[in-house]
Amino acid sequence: MDPTTNLSEPMDIQETLERLRGEGPGRIEQVESTEALEDLAAELTGKRSPIAAGRRSLGSAPPEQRRDLGRAINDVAVELDALIDARRSSLEAAEAADALAADRVDVTLPGRAPPHGTIHVIQQVMDEIVDIFVAMGYTVATGPEVETEFYNFTALNFGAAHPSRFESDTLYVDYGDVPEDILLRTHTSPMQARYMEQHDPPVYLVVPGRVFRRDQVDPTHSPVFHQVEGLAVDTDITFGDLKGVLAHFAHEFLGPDTRVKFIPHFFPFTEPSAEMHVFTNGRWMELLGCGMVHPAVFEAVGYDPDQVTGFAFGMGAERLAMVRHGVTDLRHLFDSDQRILEQYR
Ligand code: DAH
Repeated sequence: MDPTTNLSEPMDIQETLERLRGEGPGRIEQVESTEALEDLAAELTGKRSPIAAGRRSLGSAPPEQRRDLGRAINDVAVELDALIDARRSSLEAAEAADALAADRVDVTLPGRAPPHGTIHVIQQVMDEIVDIFVAMGYTVATGPEVETEFYNFTALNFGAAHPSRFESDTLYVDYGDVPEDILLRTHTSPMQARYMEQHDPPVYLVVPGRVFRRDQVDPTHSPVFHQVEGLAVDTDITFGDLKGVLAHFAHEFLGPDTRVKFIPHFFPFTEPSAEMHVFTNGRWMELLGCGMVHPAVFEAVGYDPDQVTGFAFGMGAERLAMVRHGVTDLRHLFDSDQRILEQYR
């Protein structure tokens, strides 16, 4: 009914009350939610309901009828309110039960374990290499991946026309008009020079890091890979010390019975230079490059080659990871295929 209806006539009020009493209980019973119930309550007995309108119009009713009319309105209001309250209680109880059922937790279900990350196998191998040298008293340092030509080549006694400097081998970075060529370091050896410039001897140093070369990806090459560099400088360091330290490393990394041999080689920054090979997985394999630090390197960094001697070595972390885990294709280590990587926990 239009809530603004003027119920000034007693007969209108009586009729309206009859109607409310007739249809109200059924409508209250049919309401399905507390929200709909509140709307219905407002319609039936609220401030804008016919009940409220009836009460407001009592003043203009004939005085002798006011008392009975007022009581009749009140009776209907009390009756409907009681039904509304009862319906509200049962709807609230049902809604609370539904919410509880929807929220139910089965505490007997097994838990969901969050996936565990792992340290990447290459990082694991680098950590392991570094740890073996730290146990012998070596210090760890890292250096810039973007390097100057001086530290990458010149300080390490590479000739001005050495082919490693060519753009076919080395990735240069275009910094515009700078006094010196800038490149992505091709090895961790520049840290030998940087470290010796900054520190007096003795030096016992390992340098793990990422290096770059202009190579195509294939089972044994990648333009980005990792090395661990080593440097020992002191008075009276000999090639015997180099062999002892690196054999110890091989025994720690690959097992105490691993056979090693040193084969003459050439590097600009060491003299003499060698490759250390190890007998593993049924065959000889090259593991690293090494040698006695070249006097020209000592001079480049301000050390007196008559006062100190030293040895250096450098190894590829991917190669060592492949030897350690029997991986035959380097690309498995870079593909970020979780099924492969999670095997190396
Ligand atoms: N820098 C060399 C390379 O990338 C590895 C190397 C060889 C490092 C001999 C050394 C060394 O320190 O003495 O192939």
